[in-house]
Amino acid sequence: MNRRTFLQAGASAAIGALAGSGLAFAADAEIELSAGEPGAVISPHIYGHFIEHLGGVIYDGVWVGRNSSIPNVDGIRKQFVDDMKRIGAPNLRWPGGCFADGYHWRDGIGDASGRPRTYNFWQRRMPAGTDATETNQFGIHEFMHLCRLVGAEPYIAANVGSGTPTEFHDWVSYCNAPLGTVSLADKRAANGDKEPFGVRYWGVGNESWGCGGTMRPEEYAALYRRFVTQFPAYREPFLVATGPRGHSADGDIGWTTGFFEAMRGFEPPLGFSLHFYTDLRPTPVKAGNFQAPEWYEVLLRGVRLEKVIEDHWKEMGKFDAAHRTKLVVDEWGVWYAPGSEITPAYILSETITLRDAVHTGMTFDIFNRHAGKIAMANVAQSVNCIHSLFLARGAEFVRTPVYHVFDMYRSHMGARQVPVSNPVPELNIPALAGQARLPGLSASASIRDRRLAVTLTNPSLDAPLSVRIRLAGGARATEARGLVLTHQDMRATNTFADPDEVKPAAYPVRVVADALVLILPKQSVILVECDIT
Ligand code: AHR
Repeated sequence: MNRRTFLQAGASAAIGALAGSGLAFAADAEIELSAGEPGAVISPHIYGHFIEHLGGVIYDGVWVGRNSSIPNVDGIRKQFVDDMKRIGAPNLRWPGGCFADGYHWRDGIGDASGRPRTYNFWQRRMPAGTDATETNQFGIHEFMHLCRLVGAEPYIAANVGSGTPTEFHDWVSYCNAPLGTVSLADKRAANGDKEPFGVRYWGVGNESWGCGGTMRPEEYAALYRRFVTQFPAYREPFLVATGPRGHSADGDIGWTTGFFEAMRGFEPPLGFSLHFYTDLRPTPVKAGNFQAPEWYEVLLRGVRLEKVIEDHWKEMGKFDAAHRTKLVVDEWGVWYAPGSEITPAYILSETITLRDAVHTGMTFDIFNRHAGKIAMANVAQSVNCIHSLFLARGAEFVRTPVYHVFDMYRSHMGARQVPVSNPVPELNIPALAGQARLPGLSASASIRDRRLAVTLTNPSLDAPLSVRIRLAGGARATEARGLVLTHQDMRATNTFADPDEVKPAAYPVRVVADALVLILPKQSVILVECDIT
């Protein structure tokens, strides 16, 4: 039975027949997993998060205030905490983004009623007549409290664009110095936190080629060195230098070359930030209302990430064959032109549909397959923004389809990547500029102890795909469980009124000899888990 005849027969009937039969099964595609030869560990931090002082992200999305009638933990939205905990959010990047290079951390400490109101970078993007003044009610103590509640590692982006090395170093001391050492540690204790925060991940600026200072790579490299040379090492840091604008037409290789060229002879950073937006802003593609070419256009632009990762990794290898510096994809997501904000002042918030969930699955599969290159990745941004997992407006809260993909891919976090041979032919697809070709199946796999997790995405809007997953090297699966995220409407979304329109469901997977067999419905993301012997 091939892709077309399955379509004609009706996918659900075929799935039912397959699940109930003991017959041999001729699949459209056979992929092979080498579970006995696992590769790199998939850093849990690849499934990371990002929140910025922007529109409705912090204020309302995360911070509702201590006196709010919305359920909260010391001012932090309880539902956000619970759901982030549920998906095991490994880290949180904060306070920006572009906001970071205008942020002065001292504004956000001390008695909340005495904190200054300050200018927010995003003011210029706010709708006419609205104001983005930063109230500083959510500062470093509130952020750390959130991280502790969720169980996430803090990842702080420091201000290089308008700050100084001293301001940066003071912030590090304030966070990490033990009580009774420097005065800043006593000050932290006086503000409520005796124990050091122990922040390990520090971003040295953000998008220094753009909103972080419009620098050239060699200018930034010189500044990077000044900012890190006297870093107060209370805790061995993981420093992240500003990397390229990966979604530029040319992938921005020039930034990577220029930075590492200027760093010759100096200690390289452990992390090099790569931003990759699936950027639809220059196109007519809409977030919520679209047809097939716009579905495929998003996925086509999204899978470009794989080549961008490979190209920058190769370039970095020219300067350091040992690859001491790893990539940190600390902003990624599908970014649509304005038009679907949940409320006008929540700039950059957008309708999130099944298309974005499928894009998320394909992105995670790319990260997993390149686990050895990637130390961390952070979705931009977790709530009320681009590619969000949650939308929140006052007492209303909803998990988007993207949230469910984070949940489904949890099994990969910290497991070892398993090589997948995926010979599925490309699809001929209609895209904005005419016919194009897209991978016919996205896949990645991992193993922890004897438990195998395989994630698969069928991007086709037309046909299901029958797949036989062969376990190489004589491995056998004892039982298999499946979970699917799909919907008959490619535009399906979750709303405040209808929060469970798109959600995962159990899915049949059969173990046949040395293989797992299943049918991927069209426009779906699937998780298969099994124990192997
Ligand atoms: O995520 C929104 C913005 O996108 C961030 O502030 C900036 O770093 C990027 O350009």
